[in-house]
Amino acid sequence: MTTKPERLFDRVAEWDGLVAFASGKTQTARLGIVSGRRRMGKTYLLRALVERVGGFYFGATTATAGESLRQFGAALAEFAGAEVPIVFDSWDHAVTYLFGLAAREHADKPLLVVIDEFPYLVKAVPELPSLVQREIDRYQVEPSGTRLLLCGSAMSVMGGLLASNAPLRGRAQMEMVVRPFGYRDAAAFWGVEKDPALAVRLHAVLGGTPAYRRQFLADDVPISLTDFDPWLSRTVLSPLSPLFREARYLLAEEAEIRDTALYHSVLAAVAQGSNTRGGIASYIGRKAVDISHPLTVLEDCHLLVREQDVFRAGKSVYRITEPLINFYEAVMRPSWARLESGQAQQVWARSKERFTAQVAGPHFEAMCREFMLGDGIEMLDSDAGFGEIGCGIVTDSAARKQIQIDVAVMQSGDGGHKAAVSMIGEAKWGATMGLNHLDRLVRARELLAGNGLDASNCRLVCFSGAGFSDALRDRADQDANVVLVGLAQLYGRHEVGDRG
Ligand SMILES: Nc1ncnc2c1ncn2[C@@H]1O[C@H](COP(=O)(O)OP(=O)(O)O)[C@@H](O)[C@H]1O
Ligand SMILES: [Mg+2]
Repeated sequence: MTTKPERLFDRVAEWDGLVAFASGKTQTARLGIVSGRRRMGKTYLLRALVERVGGFYFGATTATAGESLRQFGAALAEFAGAEVPIVFDSWDHAVTYLFGLAAREHADKPLLVVIDEFPYLVKAVPELPSLVQREIDRYQVEPSGTRLLLCGSAMSVMGGLLASNAPLRGRAQMEMVVRPFGYRDAAAFWGVEKDPALAVRLHAVLGGTPAYRRQFLADDVPISLTDFDPWLSRTVLSPLSPLFREARYLLAEEAEIRDTALYHSVLAAVAQGSNTRGGIASYIGRKAVDISHPLTVLEDCHLLVREQDVFRAGKSVYRITEPLINFYEAVMRPSWARLESGQAQQVWARSKERFTAQVAGPHFEAMCREFMLGDGIEMLDSDAGFGEIGCGIVTDSAARKQIQIDVAVMQSGDGGHKAAVSMIGEAKWGATMGLNHLDRLVRARELLAGNGLDASNCRLVCFSGAGFSDALRDRADQDANVVLVGLAQLYGRHEVGDRG
């Protein structure tokens, strides 16, 4: 296997997948699609790949069809070592030429071709996907070594490339989405994995976006928990920092939205906790139908996700996927003018409660769900298997209350078995957890069993960023179905269920 360059952090599965794609020996043309939001490291990854296995890389820019065609000709000439640019009279000509490079007698040598920022090209040359399709189809019959990777950040365009009636539908042998680093990898990437209290806060603001460390902050990393406040003031909250306007750019760039006001209002509603469709609509004072379009757009560009309630069919809540946008809506946007005039410290001093309630708290819940997707599974019964992980609401009609369950693992039922719940958990970022929290979970488990779910092996899990009371610890010691998970477990590799 071609080894991954040192500088490329993580991305092991992506690297292996790309190398296999680029060097596969079949003598037919192959197509791969690489997508993912801006700043996730797609270009970084693909450039490293081209560097290691060889091939042709072309990064499109926003340009007219004619200008991009000239740039493409010049880049190809450079790749081929020609003295003068190759002059194409049309994109049809260029695509035919490109596929000709690894055709027929050259078909036994795989040739990797990367076209980055493909959506820019498609915008200028709408027929490009059809031209690519024609050549791909042609070289399923004639021998070819072409390994074409189309890459881009505009999720709406990239998703559309393979949509049902699109020319490239069914042609791609590989579809890769480059995602943010998970919370543990992000901590290692920032070098803060030894300090989970800092790592959670950092992740709640910057998430797992690789570009923010070097490219945006030139490696300005908070060195300790006490440095976190000054660090925020000199980076994200400083009008001089490129991160300051990043949340706004993300929305404008990703969604290609011109009128961003309505979109920001929708995001602000979700950030404030009004996260159902009806809740968002009433927060911004519109009818539910009026926000359908912005919700769809935000979902399509992966800035919002809709999470199904695991207990109540048809109910769902929206969540902002990019922590920085959530942070912006909750902390920065309400104080924008002050921040612009350089009052970062004052604004931050007054925003800490809001940060805990609206940013860190919900973020911590999402991290706990991510934990259950990985190592957390070890604390469940082994035959609980891999269930669906999510959150939901249990209705307590007798007490006229709703119990919010932050983390749950469900097994769907089949012929002989009832649907089962293998764990329910509560996550508290800022508060020491006690027996009262456990009691709510006990009650929720009873109610779920009463609703016909198999809850006989259901663990009750308390996740806390601030520790547990002695009484709760004692209960966990006596009852194997009660599990406490602190920051040490969330960030540790093993010892799940041990005390941290
Ligand atoms: N796997 C990684 N390891 C280290 N740094 C990375 C990694 N991925 C991305 N980066 C950093 O993020 C920056 C932006 O990545 P880039 O490839 O331009 O993102 P994209 O093409 O997805 O918009 C890179 O210049 C690099 O500094
Ligand atoms: Mg890029």
